[in-house]
Amino acid sequence: MDNVRLIAAATGASGVPYFLRMLKHLENVNGRSDLILSPGFLKVAEKESSETIVPENLEGTKGLHRFRLLDHANTGAEPASGSAQYSAMIILPASMNTVAAIAAGLSTNLIERAADVSLKERRPLVLVPREAPYSLTHLKNFTTITEAGGIVIPASPGFYHNPKTIEDILDFVIDRVFQHARVPLRLLDSWKG
Ligand SMILES: Cc1cc2nc3c(=O)[nH]c(=O)nc-3n(C[C@H](O)[C@H](O)[C@H](O)COP(=O)(O)O)c2cc1C
Repeated sequence: MDNVRLIAAATGASGVPYFLRMLKHLENVNGRSDLILSPGFLKVAEKESSETIVPENLEGTKGLHRFRLLDHANTGAEPASGSAQYSAMIILPASMNTVAAIAAGLSTNLIERAADVSLKERRPLVLVPREAPYSLTHLKNFTTITEAGGIVIPASPGFYHNPKTIEDILDFVIDRVFQHARVPLRLLDSWKG
């Protein structure tokens, strides 16, 4: 297995620039990623991205990384089985809909199924939810996922690294995601006090 073999999923919460920036950084990481985009993500992307996202254009070998696009509806694709070897799964951004489905153990699409498999196989599952404010239902779902072994990293960047650009702000969150998904690429200096 490659050192890094990710499932990188994106759902319909605000935060499309996070996902695109993460893919850019992964080009500097030796490994492979299977990409799964929900229809909701593509809908939000129409609003948030300055350029139209053509999913197929995300595929291929870029830099040190190989990207493969999987069909969101295909619950029989490789990540649907625990026998497939992945190093981690990232959902960035994670909608409250998908968070609820994962907390309930649903597998109605490939993102939900792959997340469920990640939890049962005790592999890192990193979710970056975006909603404000959170309802009690959202908070209970985060608790359930955390108790099941998932890692919830809210899209709430810190500012103590003195960001100058939007990319600097995105990188704060992506750096945390990479740390917890065991992606060996640091985007920020660790805090020295
Ligand atoms: C422009 C736009 C922005 C949205 N932003 C959010 C959001 O920040 N958080 C969220 O949980 N849902 C948000 N939604 C709603 C989800 O996209 C919707 O619940 C969708 O069914 C999620 O499906 P998915 O989990 O399969 O991607 C947004 C929808 C639109 C159209």
